[in-house]
Amino acid sequence: MAEISFKRVSRRFGNTPAVDNVSTTLESGRFLALLGPSGCGKTTLLRLIAGLERPDEGEIALGGQVVAAPGRFVEPEQRALGMVFQSYALWPHMSVAGNIGFGLNRLPRVEREARVLDALRMVGLGDMFDRKPHELSGGQRQRVALARSLAARPRILLLDEPLANLDAHLRQSMLAEFRRIHAATGCTMVFVTHDQNEAMAVADQVGVMDRGRIEQMATPMDLFDRPATPMVARFVGNGRTLPVTVQERLADRTCRIRIGDRTIAVPGQVAHGPGWLCLHPRDLSPSTEGIAGTISAVRFEDGYYLADVLLDALPEADALPLRLPGPARQGEKLRIALRGGWVLPRDGVPETPIAAPAEVRRGVPA
Ligand SMILES: Nc1ncnc2c1ncn2[C@@H]1O[C@H](COP(=O)(O)OP(=O)(O)OP(=O)(O)O)[C@@H](O)[C@H]1O
Ligand SMILES: [Mg+2]
Repeated sequence: MAEISFKRVSRRFGNTPAVDNVSTTLESGRFLALLGPSGCGKTTLLRLIAGLERPDEGEIALGGQVVAAPGRFVEPEQRALGMVFQSYALWPHMSVAGNIGFGLNRLPRVEREARVLDALRMVGLGDMFDRKPHELSGGQRQRVALARSLAARPRILLLDEPLANLDAHLRQSMLAEFRRIHAATGCTMVFVTHDQNEAMAVADQVGVMDRGRIEQMATPMDLFDRPATPMVARFVGNGRTLPVTVQERLADRTCRIRIGDRTIAVPGQVAHGPGWLCLHPRDLSPSTEGIAGTISAVRFEDGYYLADVLLDALPEADALPLRLPGPARQGEKLRIALRGGWVLPRDGVPETPIAAPAEVRRGVPA
């Protein structure tokens, strides 16, 4: 069942379309990460789900119930969801247990206490219920904020950059925690982050947003293998797009493209004409048989020398990120073999639907 459904939803602030005609669905129990450049509308989308924003147009349904539509609006507290923000917003004068139980004051005391303890155990803080927030580390405070949301047993948990204040090590352990809690509770989670690696590590589905639109919702792997738009191809994983000419679509779901003086077959569904060849570092390797290029810069990253290589045939195009086994100099000549990639049409949408799993959606009405 669709837990979250958007039909042509827009939210504008003045002339800014923060969320622009978004149609999408998320199945119950999924873990979705929302990625995209700053200001692309991630927080606004989350606030629309929560009921902290009202759409200007369109319809939002949660668990099959319409919660926002012309003439209809369900208040946030009636939506059975929890939200965790970057700032934990804990009451400084209250104990951990007090903070978590605060929103549960309609429950009988015994049940409230049981829920608080349950939630604390869930985040691994079972013995810290009487501490004050200032007696906790940043990571522990974040866990209390998470426990507070979990104590209400939400169907949907919304997380807006909840790890932004934590150091890299703590972020890793909290990511593992989110995965464990997702598995234990079965709730639907939507997690906003700037960090792609975080998004790909934690979520089973990733939505890439740009300028208020969802460019693509797909598995992490499909975002690399079959980006739906040039923006996704460039945004995800240090991707690049090269202008190429597509000569012909071949029977095996590849197309023959012309790049410089070479003709090669690359996965894609474009019939002919101008196209983008989308590449990631994993698609490229140095090879004496490859396409000629020149190193324009080199840096050391993640244990590799990573070179920017300009193809001699396309000196105006993006430099390609190439991992090298050892150091190299700027200006050095080498050859690159292409081991993968994906072809998109230069303008508009692919001529035929992309033959990909159902997760690949391009923001079309569900
Ligand atoms: N209350 C508001 N009033 C006016 N403009 C707003 C408001 N909230 C958001 N915006 C604008 O809407 C757009 C989307 O904002 P939003 O906060 O959703 O982006 P975001 O993707 O969460 O960005 P970030 O990654 O920086 O948090 C931005 O251009 C922002 O300036
Ligand atoms: Mg935001």
